[in-house]
Amino acid sequence: MTANKSILLLPGDGIGPEAMAEVVKTADWMGQQRAVGFDTEEALVGGCSIDAAGVPITDAVMAKAMDADAVLLGAVGGPKWDAVDFAIRPEAGLLRLRKDLELFANLRPAMVFPALADASSLKRELVEGLDIMIVRELTGGVYFGEPRGIETLPDGQRRGVNTQVYTTSEIHRVAAVAFDLARKRGNLVHSVEKMNVMESGRLWREEVTKLHGEQFADVDLQHMLADNCAMQLVRNPKQFDVIVTDNLFGDMLSDEAAMLTGSLGMLPSASLGAADETGRRRALYEPVHGSAPDIAGQGLANPIAMLLSFAMMLRYSFDLGSEADLMETAVANVLNAGIRTADIATSDTKKVSTGEMGQAIRDEMERLSG
Ligand code: IPM
Ligand code: MG
Repeated sequence: MTANKSILLLPGDGIGPEAMAEVVKTADWMGQQRAVGFDTEEALVGGCSIDAAGVPITDAVMAKAMDADAVLLGAVGGPKWDAVDFAIRPEAGLLRLRKDLELFANLRPAMVFPALADASSLKRELVEGLDIMIVRELTGGVYFGEPRGIETLPDGQRRGVNTQVYTTSEIHRVAAVAFDLARKRGNLVHSVEKMNVMESGRLWREEVTKLHGEQFADVDLQHMLADNCAMQLVRNPKQFDVIVTDNLFGDMLSDEAAMLTGSLGMLPSASLGAADETGRRRALYEPVHGSAPDIAGQGLANPIAMLLSFAMMLRYSFDLGSEADLMETAVANVLNAGIRTADIATSDTKKVSTGEMGQAIRDEMERLSG
């Protein structure tokens, strides 16, 4: 018997808790039916932590995150906290987790489930079979660069500053993750920056090229400017396999890619740190969608992105590929059977609540493993 894996659950705000409830039930099911046990603990992050403790994440919760084998997060933020001090806004809790756990590689798959190809805003033939992996740098760039701040100038104007900054090692480590992933997929990497206007973009392109030549020459590498990439994603998204880009461009391009798939409610993500001597990586998993405060608490949320984030955890952190396959197959089958939450429902499908969707997926897992 090996010790149970420890998972820190951070449901957060908005639809986070109701989506996370489906993960808890699924993890329980796995413990009972598949003898895969997890030690889970829940804690606060985001607005709920501001309400309870005055900060978006406490040192105690950070310590738990450091100790856990993996962290699963729901979503943070909402209009309720729009007026709180910028330094302690809900999103700052998420940014601290990423930064302090050194989760520099953010994997955001955008794939189209066959049953949902018509839910895309693009024509079916453009998105059918789409399977892109966006690798977003997550702990550097303009999100964290110094100097930053808002100052008042002598003439009374105000001036806001953020700094886009990358070092060689920051570029190499995230590009290496992208090349490694490409080798297991379509063997193609698009590296995306704005080298036509930004020095940091020039460095990005030069260093990705250098690393490629030294260690990954077997992988196809293409360079693309970020604005062109945004355009190509809606023009011909199937030209992409793996896209590697900085923190800010990755934030935007991953939302765009997610929308191509028909619903933001479908997409999971993984944020990974460097591997230690034992090969273990710090890791945080979260849906790409946000907290959706407008529909929170009504049973309308789509729990699939949250459940697929848990499946990614099983695969990448715990080497439980067959349990991850089971979950992913169950999700695809349930969608094929026409069971849909409101965000992806159509006139000829059956509209169900968050809890009913979770139950349908567990029932299908039961049937598949029965
Ligand atoms: C994301 C989100 C976050 C980001 C926000 C909530 C800080 O948009 O994970 O993409 O900008 O990174
Ligand atoms: Mg975003």
